[in-house]
Amino acid sequence: MDTKEIRNDFPLAKKVIYLDSAATSLTPISVIEGVAEYYREYNANTGRGVHHLSQIAGAKYLAARRKIATLIGGKEEEIIFTQSATYAINTVAQGISFQPGDRIVTTNLEHHSNFLPWLRLRKLGVEVTVVKCDQTGHLELDDFQGAIDERTKLVAVTHVSNVLGTIAPIAKLSELCHEKGALLLVDGAQSVPHMSVDVKRLGCDFLCFSGHKMLGPTGTGVLWVREDLLSQLSPLVVGGGAIEDVSVDEYVLVPGYTGFEAGTPNIAGVIGLGRAVDYLNALGMEWVEEHEARLTEQLLTGLECIKRVKIVGEKGPAGRIGVVPFIVEGMHPHDVALLLDEAAGILVRSGHQCALPLMKELGRADGVVRVSLYLYNTQEEVEILLSTLDRALSRA
Ligand SMILES: Cc1ncc(COP(=O)(O)O)c(C=O)c1O
Repeated sequence: MDTKEIRNDFPLAKKVIYLDSAATSLTPISVIEGVAEYYREYNANTGRGVHHLSQIAGAKYLAARRKIATLIGGKEEEIIFTQSATYAINTVAQGISFQPGDRIVTTNLEHHSNFLPWLRLRKLGVEVTVVKCDQTGHLELDDFQGAIDERTKLVAVTHVSNVLGTIAPIAKLSELCHEKGALLLVDGAQSVPHMSVDVKRLGCDFLCFSGHKMLGPTGTGVLWVREDLLSQLSPLVVGGGAIEDVSVDEYVLVPGYTGFEAGTPNIAGVIGLGRAVDYLNALGMEWVEEHEARLTEQLLTGLECIKRVKIVGEKGPAGRIGVVPFIVEGMHPHDVALLLDEAAGILVRSGHQCALPLMKELGRADGVVRVSLYLYNTQEEVEILLSTLDRALSRA
């Protein structure tokens, strides 16, 4: 695959060196056009009208649901569109009828969006146990073995750390959860965009991820729920578009995903997300993985050689994706990010990365600098990052 051709599809890739895709990815022209086409050609509400524009919008919205389902090895009936991964996780947290004394197991590796929704349940009398990762960001199955007991209703774990880039052993963890009668929620916000993810292979019960981190528009997220669990989950929001019947006394929701998508959805966004899936499929997730692995190795090797730079967490290329955090001794992470932007238009993330429990564990009160790679990045860009850092730090 020719990266030059890929970069032609991303208008912003030519203007900046974008190394912040873990926050949100750049958007290809086909997705931008998909969104614009909706407003230009068939701007109508889905599922509410019999007129032909509504029919077109409804069909395209459904087609996007199918594409998303196929990408993760699920069924279209199992896909609930949300506005973000955060919203998807909160749907599960509020949708399971947790009782006082129930237990939830999570980890200190989590993004706040897969942490706060569980902590909040403590008010209901739910106990939350936090399994700790080691200093490199790896999770041990033995720690879960000890933490999950017969009262544990749910285990909520990130597939890939948004700070350290490490991949969690989800398939083995799901076996353990099911042996012990617990459900497993996987936060796939950092895995689905970067690797081939199959819900059957993972064996999880819920998978949550963001559309905007996988080339889709902002305001799109996905909650995949194993089909037989849908009827046990209550929606976070109720209202128009989700009902089978309403009287002055009661309402009946449509069974399945429709009952979870009350209100006018982000129609253009979801259709754009469908285009994003087309884009990923055309490249192939294996190619995306291999491309990012090559760049990650180059980045890790280069960072190791720069004076005052310390890679945080796992230093090796195995068992991780192209999310690489580091610090520069004697410099605040925000100052490093500003320096890179001013010197060469290199955009990286700095600070606590929405993972304060992990930062506290790692003793990084100021956070880290995070470089995150994606399919449009090149060896040349990594080289510019490394040489810019090296030059600036040998001068300072
Ligand atoms: C691992 C992880 N989970 C959840 C989220 C939240 O995603 P969203 O902003 O789409 O709600 C993020 C965003 O950075 C993330 O990295």
